[in-house]
Amino acid sequence: MPTLIIVGAQWGDEGKGKVVDHFAAHADMVARYQGGNNAGHTLVVDGERTVVHLIPAGVLHPGTTCVLGNGVVIDPSVLCEEISGLQKRGYLGDPAQLRIDERAHVILPVHRLLDRAREQSLADRAIGTTGRGIGPCYEDKAARRGVRMVDMLDPSYFRDAVDKILAERGPLLKLYGEEPPSREEICAEYDGHAERLRPYVTDATEVIADAIATGKRILFEGAQAAMLDVDHGTYPFVTSSNTVAGVVGSGAGVAPKHVGRVLGIAKSYTTRVGAGPFPTELEDEVGARLRQVGGEFGATTGRPRRCGWFDAVVVRQAARLSGLSGIALTKLDVLSGIHPLKIATAYESGGRRYDRVPASVSALAGARPVYEELDGWSEDLSGARRFEDLPTAAQRYISRIEELTATPVTLISVGAEREETILLRDPFLL
Ligand code: IMP
Repeated sequence: MPTLIIVGAQWGDEGKGKVVDHFAAHADMVARYQGGNNAGHTLVVDGERTVVHLIPAGVLHPGTTCVLGNGVVIDPSVLCEEISGLQKRGYLGDPAQLRIDERAHVILPVHRLLDRAREQSLADRAIGTTGRGIGPCYEDKAARRGVRMVDMLDPSYFRDAVDKILAERGPLLKLYGEEPPSREEICAEYDGHAERLRPYVTDATEVIADAIATGKRILFEGAQAAMLDVDHGTYPFVTSSNTVAGVVGSGAGVAPKHVGRVLGIAKSYTTRVGAGPFPTELEDEVGARLRQVGGEFGATTGRPRRCGWFDAVVVRQAARLSGLSGIALTKLDVLSGIHPLKIATAYESGGRRYDRVPASVSALAGARPVYEELDGWSEDLSGARRFEDLPTAAQRYISRIEELTATPVTLISVGAEREETILLRDPFLL
């Protein structure tokens, strides 16, 4: 079955962009199925950095069709900017390379305003969202008053839909001290986006179905990660969509029988942005070193990321939830020079031992990790291209992660560049 789902196995920012870009070279199609421009992938090709927030990371390969599935929420102004930016650099010359599902929901200015106003009013109880309007857009989708891409293309329907949303959201925004934009302001802007995006909008589920029927290699690119899943993550400190692999079904219209392999991306340590429990967080010089050496600042918001030891409890849970066939372990090079290394194998909280992530926020907030210590190494790993090139301590670190998560490590990333990668097994063939 030539489909592969790529998901984050921690709290996001695991380096999915580089891994997707790596496999996109061998894929006919890369499709996103959830999230929006809260994601951000930094791709480095020949030293040149490209950051994409909405368009799948496969866009840098001209032969790869990129799809934004129905489960994605789309901010059209961001999408238009991203398309123009890529076109200026010689990518995305053919509109057929990008297909946007007509049922994908649209982020409106009221969603962004509401997201930010709410977070501000929550002050130190805030979730630390990316402020992109993702949550309020998914709320309106579930409340059955959302606007979809197909609706944005129909001016008279769009006006009625905007009225409906303003009637619900306007008074709330005023309560937060924000003046809602008028219907005219919104329509003037969005009518322009509609015309710019019209050539790309289609029934993407059909495009994907055709690709499956003709045996094309399809890569499904997840955004965010297991611990940010609205059901399975560290609720309420999560994003507003499901992020586990099974969501390809609803978010891209793909039947379960067509999906098989799932590759989980995990960083060799752990990071998290925004608020919420993080049992292995390091607020000491090791944490600061990981942030500095790993360049742990958000691709979307520029926020410094919280850093900590590798948490095998989290990755084991992600492996179970998404049925990981393999793990791509990223940023192993960042650990060089840290000795000893620690891995959390379980938690203790409230006199109980947990081998899984507890659902209760207070149990998780009070969790003390049970650590195992491993030898570190001091060699620079960026030149390693085979497993055998790695120092013995690094090999041992990887094997221990495999044992603790009961999942094989199939790719190791030792630097940001495409070639700074050790591929152990082709994930399409796992
Ligand atoms: P939202 O998705 O903007 O509503 O943010 C909700 C939570 O998810 C916040 O803690 C964000 O920092 C986090 N989040 C959302 N997208 C990403 C991502 O792509 N990487 C890491 N964290 C994310």
